[in-house]
Amino acid sequence: MNRIDTIMARMTLPEKLGQLTMTASGYAVTGPVIAGDSTQAIIDGTIGNLLNMVGAGPVHEMQRLAVEKSRLGIPLLIGLDIVHGHRTLFPIPLAEAGLFDDALWERTAREAAREGAAEGLAMTFAPMLDVSRDPRWGRTAEGPGEDPWLNVRIARAKVRGFQGTDLSSAESLAACAKHFVAYGPVTAGREYAAVDISERTLHEVHLPAFAAAVRAGVATVMPAFTDLNGVPMTAHVPLLRGWLRGEMGFDGVIVSDYNAIAELIKHGVAADLVDAAVLALKAGVDIDMMADAYRKGLPVALEQGRVSIDEIDASVRRVLRLKEQLGLFDDPYRRGAVPEPAAAVAERHRLARDVASRAVVLLKNERNTLPLPAETKALAVIGPLADASTEMKGPWWGAGEHEPATSVLAGLRAALKKTELRHAPGVAIDSADDSGIDEAVALCDGADAVLLCLGERATMSGEAASRATPALPGRQQALAEAVTARAHVLGIPVIAILFSGRPLVIPWLAEHADALLAAWFLGREAGHAIADVLTGRVSPGGRTPMSWPRAVGQIPIHYGPRPTGRPMNPADYYTSKYQDVENTPLFAFGHGLTYGRFSYDELRVDPPRVREHETLRVSVGLRNDGARAAEETVFLFAHAKLSRVTRPLLELKGYAKLRLEPGAAGSVTLELPAAELRYLGPDLQPLFEPGEVEILVGPSAEATGLLRQTIELC
Ligand code: NOJ
Repeated sequence: MNRIDTIMARMTLPEKLGQLTMTASGYAVTGPVIAGDSTQAIIDGTIGNLLNMVGAGPVHEMQRLAVEKSRLGIPLLIGLDIVHGHRTLFPIPLAEAGLFDDALWERTAREAAREGAAEGLAMTFAPMLDVSRDPRWGRTAEGPGEDPWLNVRIARAKVRGFQGTDLSSAESLAACAKHFVAYGPVTAGREYAAVDISERTLHEVHLPAFAAAVRAGVATVMPAFTDLNGVPMTAHVPLLRGWLRGEMGFDGVIVSDYNAIAELIKHGVAADLVDAAVLALKAGVDIDMMADAYRKGLPVALEQGRVSIDEIDASVRRVLRLKEQLGLFDDPYRRGAVPEPAAAVAERHRLARDVASRAVVLLKNERNTLPLPAETKALAVIGPLADASTEMKGPWWGAGEHEPATSVLAGLRAALKKTELRHAPGVAIDSADDSGIDEAVALCDGADAVLLCLGERATMSGEAASRATPALPGRQQALAEAVTARAHVLGIPVIAILFSGRPLVIPWLAEHADALLAAWFLGREAGHAIADVLTGRVSPGGRTPMSWPRAVGQIPIHYGPRPTGRPMNPADYYTSKYQDVENTPLFAFGHGLTYGRFSYDELRVDPPRVREHETLRVSVGLRNDGARAAEETVFLFAHAKLSRVTRPLLELKGYAKLRLEPGAAGSVTLELPAAELRYLGPDLQPLFEPGEVEILVGPSAEATGLLRQTIELC
């Protein structure tokens, strides 16, 4: 008998249900704190998994109870959310998505895994793979943005990064692809609300990244809190048992979201906790996080014959197998055995700065306002986010809560030793008090430029942080208007930096600021990273992974809508348009300037006729006519001209980066396997349909900037 069979043969029902239970924990000065009688329950073997424990000391203390004091000595699985770094906070996932850099995505996940594992953790509830086309939804900050293909790339890189090549390594964590599936399209962007989308959208937009995560070997999957077309995901038999386990062959652990099994009662699909436990187990959920529905409900359900011991055993076996794969049976203390060397931590901090400075998106830069001229003598640094180090960390602090983070002001002080920096917040982030605006306006006189640091509080995005009006909160618009008016009378430029966990609706600012940057939330090195960009030490390389709406009413908005029979035409009244706002976004998906000035020419696509098993080579020439070296991100899109179901006007199929010195020219070549031009036909089955396909290449999804060439699938 192998180890798992031997253990299973000895387990009592309460011990089995313990392996299917995950309980929250915390750490107080007095020691670990876990809900109710959990410490005793660990010794009794009736709690087998924990979440929310920070620090190798407490983790090992709990592990010792399980391994040394419980009857069977089964180690605990201890997990924690590592959303954008563990102690070292990196830019939020939305910002990282805009890097379009698979190697970097993998590297930050690897570093976060090392850091988490060095504190004894063996699992993280990441990556978050929810496509979002709705900036009202606060969890947009935690995810990949609007594009399914980009999400696939992120899924692969993140799973590789967290898990490494060997799950049992002391530096690897079990990853968790979440939230399965289609959590992003919550009705009207309101957190936890119902989701109602088509089968086509589910398969084209939301499932691909989960398929990619499974193929990359993800160890665990978490169902979303939400319902999908009437069926809560925690009880979704067709998608969990049918698609995930059946079609995709996923045999890892499905862990519920926090209290989600009990919430099946509130959803109105379960009569009580017993019923809820039955529904979740039948759907394939192995671990019950925080509802205590399995421990309380499954013994009753078993007695009533509503579940079988074989069904319970199948889940227990999966949990034990994961613990074995993680090496927890061989050495439960390997993770967190030794503190990380200081050099490794310092190197990680450098990485955080590098990633953060590259993630900044330069949305606008009139008359080369940026980088700041070297002779800048005085800078007015205005706004509630200029001196706000804690906010820089972003919506998920995790174990980084007590770590330092650099404010914009501190970053500038370190970088611009000879420049006079005058600061006033003007207003608070979200208060109605505008009595400080005059003082802020007065700082403009005698300054060479104004830096306006505006945006959201970190906690305005993330979980449970939907906003009906994702615009500048409080009186920040009034501050921006007053300061800009004065600056423009004085003839000095206004550089606005936006902090947010989502695209904001800021048409006025986009029109009136001379330069505009989206800094999202950049993590511990935010201030240094922003100084790097402002001074020109780094050319910004971030591209927005979501379209920025001009008005709230355009939401949901994304770059690839399907065509209408009446496309917008100013000469024809009865066409698809708004009466009060343009159809296009304020900033398109992929938009982001650099300090170079790139032009594109000579798009070549070979061969002009391609079969399903062949690969297209798409190349384009680039020149940097700017005065500075910079790295350009080049996007490749496709559009089928004729197909039996309507296809998105643009579909991302590739990206590449090219760094060019001033005056230099070069080219990039992208390979596109023709099989990637398949689409889901009328019956939702993949179809390779002969016909013309347009290949489009350019700096963003904005139609006017794209070079195009038509090829033929045959
Ligand atoms: C609830 C969130 O939805 C989920 O993403 C997270 O992993 C769990 N809480 C655990 O913290």
